[in-house]
Amino acid sequence: MKDSHGRTIDYLRISLTDRCNLRCIYCMPEEGVSALSHKDILSLEEIERLVSVAAGIGIKRLRLTGGEPLVRLGVADLIRGLNRIPGIESIALTTNGILLPKMADELKSAGLSRVNISLDTLDPAQYAAITRRDKFDEAMAGIDAALEAGFDPVKLNSVVVRSLDQDVFGFARMSIDRPLHVRFIEYMPVGESAGSCGCGWGKEDVIESEELFGMINEQAVASGLGELKPAGSRKPAGWGPARYFEFEGAKGTVGFISPLSRHFCSECNRLRLTADGKIRPCLFSDEEFDVRAALRSGEGDKAVRDVLLRALGAKPDEHHDKVGTERNMSQIGG
Ligand code: GTP
Ligand code: 5AD
Ligand code: SF4
Repeated sequence: MKDSHGRTIDYLRISLTDRCNLRCIYCMPEEGVSALSHKDILSLEEIERLVSVAAGIGIKRLRLTGGEPLVRLGVADLIRGLNRIPGIESIALTTNGILLPKMADELKSAGLSRVNISLDTLDPAQYAAITRRDKFDEAMAGIDAALEAGFDPVKLNSVVVRSLDQDVFGFARMSIDRPLHVRFIEYMPVGESAGSCGCGWGKEDVIESEELFGMINEQAVASGLGELKPAGSRKPAGWGPARYFEFEGAKGTVGFISPLSRHFCSECNRLRLTADGKIRPCLFSDEEFDVRAALRSGEGDKAVRDVLLRALGAKPDEHHDKVGTERNMSQIGG
């Protein structure tokens, strides 16, 4: 299905919950967000019904996000159900990885295609400071579990922030020995206007991809690894805007996601569903469409389809440098 700017929209990001087992300082306040009550969030059956209507208007690819999607009970059953919907070709997951050691095999056999794992640092103390939880070992074990379960590709998402002084070269090197696709994401100061993240980071904390690319290359050359080259056959499957590079002989790649320095709005292919059943046409637009009301109205699938089509029609051409939202990232799913 095309939107009013001629873009094909075939990707739906589904936030399963706004809860999380971490409290990343840029995403949530310590006390968590005002957790939605059970009746506010869409049931798994409602999500399946919505997806079957969405598949009817051209949605083919799904990503489960959160909060942390794996804290929602029944995720593997949901994946099985979603996989049975005609027209759905692929289901991916964005997770912090903590629960993957327990769940990776089950998710793989349920038919999950791909996993992206969020990890912002390789230093356990810094991890505890960023996430406000002491779970670095679990997160690292989650990466191992995803690879062992046979997910391919496995991507790491690392949000880069100037004042954190992360070991970005250490991250980039993780792409060498194992088929890991390490992606550096420009920090989007969205929580600022949500007002409750309290991390205190602003625009001055954004490191643009080009600068980061230079920093990594400098260290790579100094260490004898050589420069990053545009990725060839190892470029991983994906639906997002990352640009990929690789070190010679590496098993994985190094990617850059540049929402601020290189708008990818013209290639936008997605709609978002919040856990409480609102369709968001754009990450940064606070205009939302109430699909939960339509699902619960008793009016049948046409009402649901109408809401989806209205949301599709409302997709803006671009975010016009507005990167704030009234919701925290954890309530939108990134
Ligand atoms: P792949 O299909 O594996 O490439 O994943 P993806 O990049 O679509 O999704 P993922 O959940 O891994 O998100 C990676 C980063 O991109 C996160 O920081 C998201 O917040 C950001 N992101 C995802 N969608 C959008 C979008 O529509 N606009 C902007 N500005 N950022 C987005
Ligand atoms: N800027 C960039 N990426 C973010 N994420 C969460 N908040 C932000 C932000 N402000 C990332 C998470 C996760 C993905 C879904 O979004 O780290 O990898
Ligand atoms: Fe949880 Fe991801 Fe938000 Fe961290 S960034 S608190 S892991 S949802």
